[in-house]
Amino acid sequence: MDRIRIVGGRELAGTIPISGAKNAALPLMIASLMTSETLTLENVPHLADVEQLTRILGNHGVDYSVNGKRDHQNGNGGGYSRTINFTARDIVDTVAPYELVSKMRASFWVIGPLLARMGVARVSLPGGCAIGTRPVDLFIDGLQALGADIDVDNGYVVAKAHNRLKGNRYVFPKVSVGATHVLMMAASLARGETVLENAACEPEVVNLAECLNAMGAKIHGAGTPTITIDGVDQLSGASIRVIPDRIETGTYAMAVAMTGGDVLLQGAQPDLLQTALDVISQTGAEITPTNEGIRVKRNGAGISPVDVTTEPFPGFPTDLQAQFMGLMTKAKGKSHITETIFENRFMHVQELARLGARIHLSGQTAIVEGVSKLKGAPVMATDLRASVSLVIAGLAAEGETTVNRIYHLDRGFERLEDKLSGCGAVIERISG
Ligand code: EPZ
Repeated sequence: MDRIRIVGGRELAGTIPISGAKNAALPLMIASLMTSETLTLENVPHLADVEQLTRILGNHGVDYSVNGKRDHQNGNGGGYSRTINFTARDIVDTVAPYELVSKMRASFWVIGPLLARMGVARVSLPGGCAIGTRPVDLFIDGLQALGADIDVDNGYVVAKAHNRLKGNRYVFPKVSVGATHVLMMAASLARGETVLENAACEPEVVNLAECLNAMGAKIHGAGTPTITIDGVDQLSGASIRVIPDRIETGTYAMAVAMTGGDVLLQGAQPDLLQTALDVISQTGAEITPTNEGIRVKRNGAGISPVDVTTEPFPGFPTDLQAQFMGLMTKAKGKSHITETIFENRFMHVQELARLGARIHLSGQTAIVEGVSKLKGAPVMATDLRASVSLVIAGLAAEGETTVNRIYHLDRGFERLEDKLSGCGAVIERISG
């Protein structure tokens, strides 16, 4: 199994190109199930999760072709992100089996398009995952509100819509990104108007709404808590660009805040992560939006502790919580980090402790007492963002850190080691 070896202690300086967002690309790819015409997605990141979802969609009958493929290209120029055409001329299977859905929770989202286009879907429950139980009750309630009959049978959600889904008002009892994506897709092909209240406002929801509208849907209000959707009879092909990855942007900004240095995050968009950028500047880093992206700079004057609480957008994202904890391990004082989105998203605490971090857990809050030095060690993590928090800590630790099980990193960070070594970090992938 591949590992990443880091020798810490170098400042970062240079340019890091920001890739297309994983969490925007995945629902956009799933939207291709909603039309028999071609959906062209630009700026799709080259990630294990994208490959996996391509296989899953293939099972349902989606063909794809890649334009301008630049696989195996190393070096610092340009990114891997590609333009991919997805075509679901015929849906050949409305079943999403356990073997596939259990590998990637987002693949459960096919339930919306399959039900809306085919009137039937049988999708495996995703099961638990490393960051919490993550139920699907909101998807079921919401689709029932649109008139679907839903049964749970042998671990599968079986959904049927007799004579099309019907528009309705649905108030999410809790903000959910995935359930917002699914209901927006399903309602686009329903009869009549749907109003979704307390919808997720994440930029990835806006990207999906733009894509669906380009395909002929009539969606208003995406990016606000109230989304109105006038159902249409069918959708057509379209071309849309995946937004830049705000979590990758925040991660590298925190890496620079941790090591010191001066890096341009090329292509990054500040409005996608303003709260996180504000927090990072409170730690002492200088954040400057430029025409090309975001410049992050920090000089030798220590890291200030800052308290954060994760919240739905536009609050501080749960997907940056682990990385921020990495940064706080070297702050000049105590910080409190409270996780409110997922109940079990602190697996990085024990591993950060192996590098010398001092962290106590009290319920949903981690109390981090900054130390002046971290020391390299072998570590591993059980999810994507936790793994990258160990990379950030390793970049600032004395000596050598080996991050094991890096398939988690490959799910969500395109060319991580190339991007960081291009800025002077000593970091390499060790195969086998
Ligand atoms: C998306 O997951 C992201 N995944 C996650 O990113 C991200 O952490 C999360 O949103 C929150 O921002 C993708 O976009 C592919 P939710 P999602 O439904 O949609 C509860 C990463 O590292 N809930 O907004 O699955 C749920 O348990 C990942 O890239 C229900 O209770 O998250 C959680 O507590 C991991 N019932 C909360 O809502 C439901 O039916 C928010 O989850 C659905 C969700």
